[in-house]
Amino acid sequence: MKEEISKVLETAKNEIEKASSVHELQQLKSRYIGKKSVLNSFMQKISTIPKEERPTFGNILNETKNQISELLLNKEQRIKELEYETTLKTESLDLTMPGRKREKGSLHPITKVWWEIEDIFISMGFEVAEGPDIEDEFHNFDALNTPPDHPARDLSDTFYIDNDVLLRTQTSTVQVRVMQKHKPPIKIISPGSCYRNEHDASHSPMFHQVEALVVDEGVTFTDLRDVLNIFIKKMFGEKIESRFRPHFFPFTEPSAEIDIICVKCYGKGCNLCKGSGWLEMGGAGMVDPNVFDILGIDSKKYTGYAFGLGIDRIAMLKYKIPDMRMLFENDIRFLKQF
Ligand code: PHE
Repeated sequence: MKEEISKVLETAKNEIEKASSVHELQQLKSRYIGKKSVLNSFMQKISTIPKEERPTFGNILNETKNQISELLLNKEQRIKELEYETTLKTESLDLTMPGRKREKGSLHPITKVWWEIEDIFISMGFEVAEGPDIEDEFHNFDALNTPPDHPARDLSDTFYIDNDVLLRTQTSTVQVRVMQKHKPPIKIISPGSCYRNEHDASHSPMFHQVEALVVDEGVTFTDLRDVLNIFIKKMFGEKIESRFRPHFFPFTEPSAEIDIICVKCYGKGCNLCKGSGWLEMGGAGMVDPNVFDILGIDSKKYTGYAFGLGIDRIAMLKYKIPDMRMLFENDIRFLKQF
């Protein structure tokens, strides 16, 4: 019987060694040392052996049982350690891994320039006025002394939504709205979006203008030139001069186009100014008395000046952006640079 017991111990050892899960170990435990186990069946046979051999036999049985239960315990511990290690490996945090970057937003170059323009004019005592993008012919054309047959009214330039409903082609509409509501003195700028059916490297169907309007007694063309020059120098630097070229706008008389010395070559002539040394900035002039008459402002008492500049154009010159379309493509690689 002793040999049988040591055989049982041998196979138990082998099987415990091979076991790979706690569940398997539990099955082995009940097979070898549980109530219905092989060792227990030996225990029941104890009465069949001579009395004097019983204690030794009992000792051997107990010892075998202890040995097996120790093997089981050790193995269980090893399996648990292994499981823990694999969990650590599969679920572990790699603290050396680089974090996920959060994209940081930035202001659009047009917004930056827009705010800068507002700051400069506010510092000169201007107020900021706003008006709607969707307008009627009265505010966009009639009140601005634009004759019914003026080419700008043509469908090819103006986006009409309906008869008499259109997307404003200029922020000069806000001049009209301000003069309808307020008596002089008036000193406002109105930045905003404008719309025209044009699309190329220097024109976008949606673009931005800032209009200035000053109306009071004794306002002159010199005031217009001084304010514009202060603005241009603050925006582009002290070296930048301006010039006025005679032009025509229905709502100003006299009218002029404003050029500034090329911000790249300072007048020498380069690819940016197409060799001329000058860059176009916008339009300006003294408010036509007809506009005052339409809006019920005494044109004998008051004079005024107005000018309109392209915000996108200013942004392009300031940040050296070669194509206006880049401003509206929403390419993050481009916008990130500002
Ligand atoms: N509104 C004119 C344009 O868009 C510019 C302008 C504004 C001219 C004010 C004179 C005075 O072309």
